[in-house]
Amino acid sequence: KFERFWIKLSFGLIAFFIASVIYGFVSMDLKVVGDYQTIDPQNLGETEFAKTGVREVTKNGQTEYEVYVKTMQFAFQPGTASPIVVPANTRVTFYITSPDVLHGFDLAGTNINTMAIPGQVAKLTTIFPEPREYGIVCNEYCGPAHHIMEGKVKVV
Ligand code: CUA
Repeated sequence: KFERFWIKLSFGLIAFFIASVIYGFVSMDLKVVGDYQTIDPQNLGETEFAKTGVREVTKNGQTEYEVYVKTMQFAFQPGTASPIVVPANTRVTFYITSPDVLHGFDLAGTNINTMAIPGQVAKLTTIFPEPREYGIVCNEYCGPAHHIMEGKVKVV
């Protein structure tokens, strides 16, 4: 009786691996422009990071979005407690920094992937082509709860 369970489990695992390989192939290559700027990690309260989150801005007469994100042990702010919500087909620039230790900011299934470094602001600009949800994962070891550090971006 138990054997059946294990057979089912192993078929399930094989299906899962195949699915994840296919998912890897269809993962999105977004157009991303990025760079780093320096910042004083002790004084984020006196910078744009005093108020994290999504902002609508107008640049050259166009509506764009800026997203200020702090990565912290062990949450993305915003992203973890509440999702980052941005529209599709609109230019979105992420500004990401860390007040504590090195973290990662990786939108699973895309090439949006950067380190979040204390003292540096990672800047990434992209346009999401369609409404979709993306998981955010921290891919740099940042402490005992690193593995549960995750969040969500909701493209609407
Ligand atoms: Cu934050 Cu790992």
